[in-house]
Amino acid sequence: MTATTGAFAPGDFFALADFERAADTVLPSAVRDFVAGGSGAELTLADNRAAFDRLRITPKVLRDVSDCSCATTLMGSPAAMPVATAPVGYQKLLHPEGELAAARAAAEAGIPFTVGTLSSYTVEEIAAVGATTWFQLYWLRDREQSFDLVRRAEDAGCSAVMLTVDVPWMGRRQRDLRNGFALPNDVVAAHLPVGAESAAHRAASGESAVARHTAAAFAPSLSWADLAELRRRTRLPLLIKGVLDPADAAQAAESGVDGIIVSNHGGRQLDGAVASIDALAEVCAAVNGRCEVLLDSGVRSGVDALKALALGASGVLLGRPLMWGLAMGGAEGVRRVLDLFAAELRDALGLAGCSGPEDARTLRVRRDAMAVDRTSTSHARTTYRDETSGEGTVVR
Ligand SMILES: Cc1cc2nc3c(=O)[nH]c(=O)nc-3n(C[C@H](O)[C@H](O)[C@H](O)COP(=O)(O)O)c2cc1C
Repeated sequence: MTATTGAFAPGDFFALADFERAADTVLPSAVRDFVAGGSGAELTLADNRAAFDRLRITPKVLRDVSDCSCATTLMGSPAAMPVATAPVGYQKLLHPEGELAAARAAAEAGIPFTVGTLSSYTVEEIAAVGATTWFQLYWLRDREQSFDLVRRAEDAGCSAVMLTVDVPWMGRRQRDLRNGFALPNDVVAAHLPVGAESAAHRAASGESAVARHTAAAFAPSLSWADLAELRRRTRLPLLIKGVLDPADAAQAAESGVDGIIVSNHGGRQLDGAVASIDALAEVCAAVNGRCEVLLDSGVRSGVDALKALALGASGVLLGRPLMWGLAMGGAEGVRRVLDLFAAELRDALGLAGCSGPEDARTLRVRRDAMAVDRTSTSHARTTYRDETSGEGTVVR
């Protein structure tokens, strides 16, 4: 069931969507569905894109952008652009070298790579690749196992821990249920005890084996008290991923986290959850500079990243687009996606009158009263009535 690497003709790739279309032709359909799919009716999955497309930037002029650069710092580490890879489990589904290849590409591109609890190689193997490495933690029913993973991440040289807080259990992903999705035998969750991970290889009809085996491993009891305990247990910068509510964000900042990732898990958890980009401005206001704020879910271009920066994020996480690159060409495929993204972001910054990511904070963003109808071949614009003004609202 694992993908065979397709013919990779870099000249054909001018937008991140080109990688998705190409990956579609080489991936087994159940793997494609597992990666592309969301939960429920996929309303949030769709809205993640629609919400970005509704936003418009007001560019600034006469600001000498001849030294425009994407370079920045993320969670205290230098980064060639305000981008990190999102934690994505079981990357061996996309390519035999899985996370090792993706981490190599991140190292070459100069951005942090996030190792997931559900990665198909271990944190020690992946950190040895040499990227700035962050470790994503799912809170396990066995608390000591969670702390043990954090210790392993620290010993392996990871420079941040990221606790995912929006998965008491996996959302109902109908595509996986229909496909009876199970991992192929050569793909494992390398950090889970043998037995826990092997349950992921067998699905009854109408069931997702991945949902079943993670429900057995993850602790739905995760609470603010556990976050406080984790804060005490590690000196590494601590991020929490999956925050959308401003009051939660304020409480997280109060609890001593170093970073918040505004995310709806790419539309894979609560279907009907607000689009991340629509939640960002309020979260940033609530946090009020007490910690960094990053964003994922629906980022598909440098312009999307510019919109997130303008609304107060210090960076974005890229998820699915990197998986399409991985499927197409291993480390080289991921690298191509990152190179294209970096070129798009530099373009967007310069054309908006910004010399670097920090300048983007001064840009005005409005929610347009008109949305581009992408289904129309003529790119006709259809009216979108904004709830607050009916005309388009200045978001920032
Ligand atoms: C196939 C797949 C696996 C994922 N695995 C994890 C995971 O193990 N841990 C986690 O915190 N998030 C996981 N995510 C969510 C991503 O980190 C990220 O929030 C999401 O992909 C962002 O949406 P986008 O890719 O549409 O931009 C996964 C997403 C996908 C598509």
